[in-house]
Amino acid sequence: MYLTRRPRRNRRTAAIREMVAENSLSVKDFIYPMFIMEGENKKVEIKSMPGIHRFSLDELLLELKEVVALGIPCICLFPNYPEEKKDKYATESILPETLYLKALTTVKSAFPDLLIMTDVAMDPYSSDGHDGIVENGEILNDETIEILCKMSVAQAKAGADIIGPSDMMDGRIGAIREALDEAGFEKVSIMAYTAKYASAFYGPFRDALDSAPKFGDKKTYQMNPANVQEALVEADLDYEEGADIMMVKPAFSYLDVIKTLKENFQIPISAYNVSGEYAMIKAADQNGWIDGEKAMMEMLLSMKRAGADIILTYFAKEAAKALKQ
Ligand code: PBG
Repeated sequence: MYLTRRPRRNRRTAAIREMVAENSLSVKDFIYPMFIMEGENKKVEIKSMPGIHRFSLDELLLELKEVVALGIPCICLFPNYPEEKKDKYATESILPETLYLKALTTVKSAFPDLLIMTDVAMDPYSSDGHDGIVENGEILNDETIEILCKMSVAQAKAGADIIGPSDMMDGRIGAIREALDEAGFEKVSIMAYTAKYASAFYGPFRDALDSAPKFGDKKTYQMNPANVQEALVEADLDYEEGADIMMVKPAFSYLDVIKTLKENFQIPISAYNVSGEYAMIKAADQNGWIDGEKAMMEMLLSMKRAGADIILTYFAKEAAKALKQ
């Protein structure tokens, strides 16, 4: 057969395939989400996330040695608080001696070059399990933002490099930017959870934090999985309000959204490879139904191909090791 074009020529050997590869993964693009809990000597595996733990601060510091040695440039820290510290207004979140803020300061001084991204939302501290203040079954927007601003400034003071508002209230990026600047933290970045969908794929994360909503769901603030135009509305706002980086979350079922934001904005786009995406691969791997490592690398690469500059992933350590081989 005479064929002018034989695309298989570019796939003939590993060397050719690598030479013509359009996308690649790098450990430098990874952010590793980690969970901190109160106590000492605690390293508790999360049932629905094999290989992922909640750490007490002393254990977190040990773990971070390995994270840093692997070349992972940034972690994103989430706190697990006992029920008795939670209330309607997430009061615990800004107490100077609180676990989370103490952890930020300690980690920053132990690992000054490691970037720390934080979580700004009320749910880890909320007795209602929601990201905002609940009144008569409704999530209050503007009143919540006042709390988010205080939380952001407290986190910046404690050593955060990147503030990550994960709450989806309207107008919070601008308000937080202003609050940070007024407090003298104009160098602290904001990674906006720009297109955060109301997703079933957050289930294992809510186990990790014991933060599932006590009633209802998050559909009045997180986005409808049916929508992509709306992601552009959110992105326009977050961009105008000063976001430095814009996130799409979850990632794997929303690759089109990542691509849409990447094509329409000139700032970095991040993808949050969420807990449920991690859990699915782990479960199938443990059952012998899938090659977990290969599936992991393929999943992460798909996010790069879609246009993600940065990937938040619970696979960060494993993928970093796989990339070293
Ligand atoms: C809540 C928050 C969630 C995640 C990060 N921040 C869950 C939610 O919105 O209910 C999910 C992360 C994951 O599933 O890995 N502010």
